[in-house]
Amino acid sequence: MLEKSPITDYRESADYLRTRIGVTPDIAVVLGSGLGALADTLENPIVIPYRDIPHFPISTVSYQKGEMVIGCLGGKLVLAMNGRFHFYEGWEMWQTAYYVGVLKLLGVSRLIITNAAGGVNENLGPGDIVCVRDHIKLTANSPVRGQNIPEFGERFFDMQHVYDKPMADLAHACAEARGFALTDGVYAFMSGPQYETPAEIRMLRLLGGDVVGMSTVPEIIAAAQCGIKVLCLSAVTNMAAGITGAAITEEEVLETGAQIRERFVGLLTDVITQIGD
Ligand code: HPA
Repeated sequence: MLEKSPITDYRESADYLRTRIGVTPDIAVVLGSGLGALADTLENPIVIPYRDIPHFPISTVSYQKGEMVIGCLGGKLVLAMNGRFHFYEGWEMWQTAYYVGVLKLLGVSRLIITNAAGGVNENLGPGDIVCVRDHIKLTANSPVRGQNIPEFGERFFDMQHVYDKPMADLAHACAEARGFALTDGVYAFMSGPQYETPAEIRMLRLLGGDVVGMSTVPEIIAAAQCGIKVLCLSAVTNMAAGITGAAITEEEVLETGAQIRERFVGLLTDVITQIGD
């Protein structure tokens, strides 16, 4: 197990970004599979490949770009993360959430996290967007395990308010104005990379899960410790194992993700534009 980076590494990452960006972004957005298009809509973009940022992990998922794009959208300075780090790639859990600590040092206080997920709740369907209001993590590991970094927060911290209600309410209102509804739900984290078995999905449903995915939760935990408020939106790309009996493939996940892209990017644009100070 790789030891957690010391605070000095996080500081060097943040200092490098500060020299490139100048001012604190109003909001950060993590763009999940297929949502990189939002980064293309930012005005006056500064593009920073992850490999240029000291100590930053470099994402290995082929269809994710591995860069930050900082630019303006609706009068806000947005830091978009085009590509993230997954536990299944081999990163330690703290590495998948490394960027959250860097955002904290940059002074970012709000984060929108997006992802592709399987529908566990049978009332959902591919193409739906779920506003995640809580999560379940069954794996023992945590991104904040090991030596605590006091600059990020307390050793033991509350998890009840990290999913920010005002941002979730705004997302619902923006979706409604665009003529569709978001469903509130609980995201169940599974470490992957294999998709789940039907029995695992039945278990997650019994436990109260609505969607299932392989990202996001470590990042949310790190954000909770740092006091960063989160809006989390999941694109349902497929029904989870055992629900329809159809095989789950990466192609299906990416294809449905592409079909939702326009609606999702439109929603994100409205939320960012209308978010208060
Ligand atoms: N399971 C886990 N992760 C996923 C799925 C799924 O069915 N779909 C998209 N990401």
